[in-house]
Amino acid sequence: MKQSLSKIESAFLEEISQVSDADKIEEIRVSYLGRKAGQLTVLLRGLKDLSIEEKKLIGPAANLLRQKIESTLTEALQKAGSSAVPEFDLSLPGKISQDKSLGHLHPITQINRELIRIFQSMGFQVLEGPELDNDYYNFEGLNFPFDHPARDIQDTFFIDSKITREEPRDFTRNDWVMRTQTSNMQVRVLEQAEPPVRCIIPGRVFRNEAIDATHEHTFYQLEGFVVDENINIGQLVWTLKEIFRQIFKQEVKLRLRPGFFPFVEPGYEVDMFCVFCGGSDVSCKVCKGLGWVEMLGAGMIHPNVLAAAGYDAGRYTGFAFGIGTGRLAMLKYNIPDYRLYMQGDLRFLEQF
Ligand code: PHE
Repeated sequence: MKQSLSKIESAFLEEISQVSDADKIEEIRVSYLGRKAGQLTVLLRGLKDLSIEEKKLIGPAANLLRQKIESTLTEALQKAGSSAVPEFDLSLPGKISQDKSLGHLHPITQINRELIRIFQSMGFQVLEGPELDNDYYNFEGLNFPFDHPARDIQDTFFIDSKITREEPRDFTRNDWVMRTQTSNMQVRVLEQAEPPVRCIIPGRVFRNEAIDATHEHTFYQLEGFVVDENINIGQLVWTLKEIFRQIFKQEVKLRLRPGFFPFVEPGYEVDMFCVFCGGSDVSCKVCKGLGWVEMLGAGMIHPNVLAAAGYDAGRYTGFAFGIGTGRLAMLKYNIPDYRLYMQGDLRFLEQF
């Protein structure tokens, strides 16, 4: 028996040394380890007929040989560059030592993902837009005429350079800005899309603001709009209520105040009744006991904007809204200062 083991071993080593392609190596594997007629398999099967002493002697030697054959085959396959044998087992869990913490998502990413999930369940498409944009999409197409004072509402970062890049249309002026609002996507999308349009655009926007606990030069919004025949304000209010109900996990009360944005008519500032203190606590950090908390801007898309995008404004109507997602996350996660988002301080980030 021992002799047959060493015969098998030398025959195997001889054969394997002569081949280098994966198919041949597989043939050798079958001829030695194959389930039915592999030489070593047959020999191992014969072990059961041996006496206990013989088994003790031959058993371990035979197993050792099997391991040796297996590892030699694996090595040969690796040399042959077979994809069947990965060098790393990617399914193994990583080693996490005590002093290394796992990464996790930024609170803005978390609120965005939550909003995206909710909007998608309501049939909204998710899009992204350019952060550096032509004046046309950020202002002109949105019914901000040149030299109109409405442009001063948003402290804009104007870009010195003249940008040349492929765009879907010609621009009146080669003036470029860091977008002040995700509304820059309204005309961009409507120009390309056929109604019904239902989409959201989460993204970063920029304004030359004096920075304090509630203002950053770089902040986050989520734009949403719906355009079709017979779209109305009731649907806007229902949509916003449903979103906030799911975000704050309770029924919410909304209040619409008139608000001016050149690209909507009528336009609104939308407030939510404080879900934290119900307006009863003067020390409430969110509403200071006033009850109402300003949440977003919204309205019915101005006919001039629909027309700029090539729509028949007599036939189609739409609503639009822009939520400050950084502000929303401050409310939801009880974050006291907007500046914390941008500082990359792990003591802050690790709390989420
Ligand atoms: N873009 C506006 C802002 O940034 C918000 C808004 C979006 C208002 C859509 C109305 C409709 O202030």
